[in-house]
Amino acid sequence: MKDTLSIKERVQELHQLINLHAHNYHSLDKPTIEDHEYDALFNELLELEEKFPEYLFDFSPSQRVGGKLLDGFKKVEHIAPMLSLDNAFNIDDMKDFNKRILDRIIGTESVEYSCEPKLDGIAVNLTYIDGHLEIATTRGDGKVGEDITHNVKTVNTIPLTLIGEQSEFPKIIEIRGEVFIEKKDFDRENKKAIKSGEKTFANPRNAAAGSLRQLDPSVTASRPLKYFAHGIGHVDENKFEMPKSQHEILKLYNSWGLPVNPLTKVANDVEDCEEYFTYITSKREELPYEIDGVVYKVNDLKKQTSLGQVSRAPRWAIARKFPAEVGMTYIKKISFQVGRVGSITPVAEFNPVNIGGVVVSHASIHNFDEIERLDVREGDTVKVKRAGDVIPQIISVDISKRKKLSSKISPPKKCPSCKSQLSKPEGDAILRCNAGLACPAQKSESLIHFVSRNAFNIDGLGERIVELLVEKKLVLNFADLFKLKVEDVIDLDGFAEKSANNLIDSIQDGKVVPLSRFIYALGIREVGEATAMNLALNFRNIKRFLDANEDDLLEINDIGPVASGYILEFLEDKKNVYMVQELLSLGVDPKEVEITNDNPFSSKSIVITGSFSNIARSQLKEELIRVGARVSSSVSSKTDFLIVGDKPGSKLKKASDLGIKILEEGDAIKILNS
Ligand code: IVH
Repeated sequence: MKDTLSIKERVQELHQLINLHAHNYHSLDKPTIEDHEYDALFNELLELEEKFPEYLFDFSPSQRVGGKLLDGFKKVEHIAPMLSLDNAFNIDDMKDFNKRILDRIIGTESVEYSCEPKLDGIAVNLTYIDGHLEIATTRGDGKVGEDITHNVKTVNTIPLTLIGEQSEFPKIIEIRGEVFIEKKDFDRENKKAIKSGEKTFANPRNAAAGSLRQLDPSVTASRPLKYFAHGIGHVDENKFEMPKSQHEILKLYNSWGLPVNPLTKVANDVEDCEEYFTYITSKREELPYEIDGVVYKVNDLKKQTSLGQVSRAPRWAIARKFPAEVGMTYIKKISFQVGRVGSITPVAEFNPVNIGGVVVSHASIHNFDEIERLDVREGDTVKVKRAGDVIPQIISVDISKRKKLSSKISPPKKCPSCKSQLSKPEGDAILRCNAGLACPAQKSESLIHFVSRNAFNIDGLGERIVELLVEKKLVLNFADLFKLKVEDVIDLDGFAEKSANNLIDSIQDGKVVPLSRFIYALGIREVGEATAMNLALNFRNIKRFLDANEDDLLEINDIGPVASGYILEFLEDKKNVYMVQELLSLGVDPKEVEITNDNPFSSKSIVITGSFSNIARSQLKEELIRVGARVSSSVSSKTDFLIVGDKPGSKLKKASDLGIKILEEGDAIKILNS
């Protein structure tokens, strides 16, 4: 690469290679290159771009993660307007739509329709010039949208450069599609927001919209946004030959590397359309993203043009909406529930109402901000929405039906269970009871957790019985459970001699548990199953765990200062240590983690990096510890091995610089099994 021309060529080649491998990885889920090879290509591109800024193009794959803050959103006029859709709410509406079309296309008895799920996301226009993503905009008012190019570039399934020969692309094309967030990612983002005291999103659509309208593109980059292309705006045909149908457009998009919904189908007539609707309705629940209906589009593009549009919606397309899964009901009571670690959640109890085939009678309300936002009160008539298996949600209050004497719900000052003073830590949206196990509600919840399936797993000890035991003051702490006798429970509601014997037997049989489950059962804040497993593997026995200090804890992968703080708070409270010792003296036996010492990894210091395809990272780590290896989180001269998976990142470079032995996933598994 001596002369300038070959540098430019290499930059272009790097774009192509990187784009292709990124597409295979992100969109097709089929990686075609080792991660370190990908990183090498990327680094080469970065170096060339730094040395030769004249070859740093906006569409370079290096320009995806925008770091610059935007100072607002520029208004941009769409070349072709972005239309909206008319709705059909039932089969008759759909038949009318089909008839209007047949009446206008003389001499036809039926038309083909492209049938597509109607994604509940945000419409986005992508303008590609010579195959490069030039600008991305929101729909806005249909004529003028907002420039969100920097944010859209962070969505890694949207190609910055289309796949194929430049001569095959139209000079300019406006590609219409939907940016959305999957249901599981939406839940995860909301949980994160709750934890950090930020506002939650009401639904996945709002989450996608909020993520795209960010002035800081690195925030957008951190949100797991997805994209499907579904339509076309302006095209400058030039040498490019336009496909003949909507379905072919989608196929072409797919070949260019743009994600297209795989559930798209062609229907021969209106009956086929109805069949498609039934099919998609049956799939709706299991789809990873939310849809609110299906869209039918006349497949033939010439016919579309001849049908034209009325006001802002085309005559050739319609949205067939799912029946709304909402119902109206009356709130009988709003009460406050105390969680295991003291969080107070408002719960609305209403007259049972059938929503989409399921009878619901209560909904939890995120927090008090949400009560205030909705201004919901006891006695109110409310609209309730049920979405799949999500907890029912109150979406609005019918103020016209509000009684004159209703009063606003104010946050309780005292814990509804133990009456102690509640507090709301700075920046937290959640009110808390700080009485810990002295609070009966927290006591019940903690005991329910202690005996639950992934903790002590005590058969026959369900929520109701635990609550009864606490209420009758038969069990005041974890240790009391193991002191229970048949005569204590035999007279309780619902018990007889046999069931009382069975319960006591299963409690006694449950005394031997793996250390990880024992730690998990203690219910320490931030210590879920995975963290409990890490703690067990690192400390190996209960005595060492009780003696843990901050340095020991922070040394453990996956345990940060927050979890470590809660663990120390637990261990430093003498009452807790005493309680654990009492459990041990009652014969509770947390099984020590067994370690073998005859593996090549035994007593070696190992770092893991990247993601693995044949073994979960956490399991790999667990198995390494089981053969006596020390797994730490950063590479140093003391590291014996680095095990690399996909996308290894900077640890790989550091390890090679230090001359540390590097093992791939397969090699590491072989050694573990040796
Ligand atoms: S076509 C002229 N296809 O629904 C055609 N829209 O209610 C306009 N949408 O703004 C849109 N999935 O954001 C089309 N497969 C799909 C769609 C879809 C979701 C959204 C789109 C549009 C809104 C209209």
